[in-house]
Amino acid sequence: MIKIGIVGTGILGEAVGLHLLNVGYEVTVFNRTKNKTEKLEVKGAKVADSPKQVAENSELIITVVKDAEAVNDVIFGNSGIIFGKHEEMCIADMSTVNPNATKEISQKVNSEGVDYIEIPVMGGPNLAIDGKLLVMASGREESFERYKSVLEKIGEQTFYLGNTGSAHSIKLAMNLQIAMVALSLSEGITLTKNAGLDPEIFLKVLNSTGFKTTMSQNKAYKMIKDSYTATFTLANLKKDLDTVNDTAVSANTELPMAQLARKIYSNAIDEGFANIDYTGIIAYIKNLSKEN
Ligand SMILES: NC(=O)c1ccc[n+]([C@@H]2O[C@H](COP(=O)([O-])OP(=O)(O)OC[C@H]3O[C@@H](n4cnc5c(N)ncnc54)[C@H](OP(=O)(O)O)[C@@H]3O)[C@@H](O)[C@H]2O)c1
Repeated sequence: MIKIGIVGTGILGEAVGLHLLNVGYEVTVFNRTKNKTEKLEVKGAKVADSPKQVAENSELIITVVKDAEAVNDVIFGNSGIIFGKHEEMCIADMSTVNPNATKEISQKVNSEGVDYIEIPVMGGPNLAIDGKLLVMASGREESFERYKSVLEKIGEQTFYLGNTGSAHSIKLAMNLQIAMVALSLSEGITLTKNAGLDPEIFLKVLNSTGFKTTMSQNKAYKMIKDSYTATFTLANLKKDLDTVNDTAVSANTELPMAQLARKIYSNAIDEGFANIDYTGIIAYIKNLSKEN
């Protein structure tokens, strides 16, 4: 069985690791802040002292860190993955990062004789824990085929999307949907509530139409109750909106709504909402009405 390494056991990496342990893989993990590996250790993961040590113990090393800078750090930084390189080894990056940065990282990794694929995902820890993510993969097709069996354990659906950068491009377009849906739900709920109506009625009507989403059917009810325990932080969604906008600039593309969304999520962070769930954007929207 392929030995798996996970570098980055934050909200998503931890859940993916727990699931891979559950289905029988040998998993070695590393996280910069060590206490975030405790649950995995209890379930049988080996805890490494560095990304290098994860590489030495594993064939497929999944990186699940914040952004491209962090991916670079864990691969090429002090005691990085690359220093533990060996013949049968592939780095698979699950972080959401800039597709242009991915191309550079991939080339640098390949020039060290190491394989590299990108495997961004849709779905959060609640789906990851049951292997129900959607995996978008790109990079060398042979490498995808070689590790497909693992990717199909991580995800309920797995798509091979082509050359390096393709999967991250699609992932960014997907996160743009997430940002917009969270905003439109926030505004719909706030509007109906401030008009003196029960926002659950709004959700009942919405969810009876073709405009319903998983968010309107699930998280929206928590938004009404001001419950924003993070499965994906508002800070990380804002990070992705930064990347969407940077990528649009590189592609000479105007995305007016993406620019506006970045500003709104950025203001929410300035108001102290960074570490709650991204759907907590409703708290920021509600506060705007209080200020008037
Ligand atoms: N949560 C989701 O639902 C979800 C879904 C799809 C994709 N993603 C993407 O997956 C990635 C991880 O998300 P998450 O929700 O797990 O975020 P998170 O809980 O904030 O975890 C971020 C991880 O990145 C690590 N990290 C950040 N900067 C680093 C650096 N310079 N060097 C080494 N490690 C660094 C953190 O280490 P420390 O613990 O030491 O800070 C932590 O392990 C992000 O790119 C996110 O956009 C998340």
